[in-house]
Amino acid sequence: MCGIIGYTGPRVATEVILDALKKLEYRGYDSAGVAISGSSIQIHKDKGEISVMESTLPHFLGGVGIGHTRWATCGKPSKPNAHPFADCTGSIALVHNGIIENYAEIKRKLIEDGHIFTSETDTEVLVHLIEKHNHGDLRQALVAALSEVRGTYAIVLLQKDSDRILATRKENPLVVGLGVGENFVASDVTALLNYTNKVLYVMDDEIVELDPRKVTIYDPSGIPVERKPSLINWSADEAQKGGFEHFMLKEIFEQPEAIRNTLRSNLEAVESGNLLSKTDFPSIKIVACGTSYHAALVGKYVLEKVAKVPTTVELASEYRYGSGAKEHPLVVLISQSGETADTLAAAREARRRGCQTLAITNVVGSTLTREVDEVFYTRAGPEIGVAATKTFITQLIALYLIAMRVGDGRRSLSRDDLRAFRSELLRLPQVVRSVLDSSPQVEEATDMLVEARDIFFLGRNINFPIMLEGALKLKEISYIHAEGYAAGELKHGPLALLDSKTPTVAACPRDHTYDKMLSNVAEVQARDSPVLAIGFQGDRDLEQVASKVILVPEVPPLFSPFPITVALQLLSYYVAKRKGCSIDKPKNLAKSVTVE
Ligand code: G6P
Repeated sequence: MCGIIGYTGPRVATEVILDALKKLEYRGYDSAGVAISGSSIQIHKDKGEISVMESTLPHFLGGVGIGHTRWATCGKPSKPNAHPFADCTGSIALVHNGIIENYAEIKRKLIEDGHIFTSETDTEVLVHLIEKHNHGDLRQALVAALSEVRGTYAIVLLQKDSDRILATRKENPLVVGLGVGENFVASDVTALLNYTNKVLYVMDDEIVELDPRKVTIYDPSGIPVERKPSLINWSADEAQKGGFEHFMLKEIFEQPEAIRNTLRSNLEAVESGNLLSKTDFPSIKIVACGTSYHAALVGKYVLEKVAKVPTTVELASEYRYGSGAKEHPLVVLISQSGETADTLAAAREARRRGCQTLAITNVVGSTLTREVDEVFYTRAGPEIGVAATKTFITQLIALYLIAMRVGDGRRSLSRDDLRAFRSELLRLPQVVRSVLDSSPQVEEATDMLVEARDIFFLGRNINFPIMLEGALKLKEISYIHAEGYAAGELKHGPLALLDSKTPTVAACPRDHTYDKMLSNVAEVQARDSPVLAIGFQGDRDLEQVASKVILVPEVPPLFSPFPITVALQLLSYYVAKRKGCSIDKPKNLAKSVTVE
């Protein structure tokens, strides 16, 4: 996610802005920029690290400015796409965090009206739209522009010849910092802690006006509201993690928003058929590594069930050894970073074999996006914890949406099926939120696992790969040996290893696999291995057979990977925390593996 700062006061604004942007670096970014107000607005920006932009920054002397670190979502990382953006006459400039969904349509109209654009971004549309509505009252122009916009945002806006800054938000963080004779606004308190610990939290659709002397918050109908300042006593490190102890936990808790953003920015392309304009390929092959490979395995179940297309999954590091079938499948490559060497090699090999290729990635402009025919962007925002969490869940969303698109394209889904599928997807942020709300219950269940040397994770059907992922998550961050198994394979090996010191985690949603899972649980318990079962709320039978249960909201069988994944992520996290492990940076592991 992008970092935002605005300053108005007696200091040299660029100094405050650079300092604040450096505090926001941890969020991940690919370019940075500043704008300073005076008799004209001066803008300086560049691709790459803040230090690159800083090294060529002229001596702008004003005391009113805005700054931004960009994490590309619309348009590749580049100097023209970096923020801030100014209007045609250079009288206003803004920075933005979020996604403007209907930007293409607005941009078309603005171009007809004579506006000239310099970037590929959705953000630039905002500044021109505000310009169009600006007849002297900038706050009114902002309100009018936003009434035409669909999407999410935190925006900070300045104008020339003025010490006033305007800011607003919708579903993106924004906080005002109160100083003496100076005021600040930022995307997170980390940016403000060097200057003040007195803050005002801005709510959705409110507009804030700041000058060095005062801050006024207006409610959506334009009426000023009273808000009591909050005092922040977090350290900078705590503030970066938003009050969470680790980035991993913060990222687990960001999943409802990550899902919402991924749905929001892709549903239209899926429903209008803009994604995958041709769906008549004979089969699908999904290729990936690590956690992304587990998402791929879930994708196979969904694509075969929903879109009725034969689907195979291959590890990216193994793909090259295949000779390539005679038929030409659609090859879907999944990589949160878009930089994994084996996945890049597989993308090149797929094209060499003459296959149509589609990448699912979280990083706009990453190498993978240049190696494929089409890209599906997940909108998880930057993930800092090495163990993938929110990027995994959004990869699942991507695969479900692709299944929806292919199912529609091949007429294997009726209108009613599509509607029902869509509404289940839209319900997921709420489902995930409710699992997060039960995190104390999950934490309590770690008693069973924390002393173990080996743990088995069992599941069937679509939850088999989810248990592979559960085992991977646990071993990555807690260093406990964990293995995921299809529960039906229990008798073909793992049963020999079970004893009272080897617990088992079992996915037992009430679906067509339930009875068989219950038998497996009984088999395991009969070997003295304690079972921690994950089931649906209201399931009383599970308590009778398992040693401990974690209950998650009931969803249709196809969607059960979502709540179960979140419960497993929390479980791994709390086990690793109790063991005092380095959760965000596990030993020997890297976020992005760029060697084969
Ligand atoms: C590394 C990361 C994993 C990730 C895997 C594949 O091992 O630690 O979290 O799943 O690479 O990465 P990718 O970026 O291709 O999804």
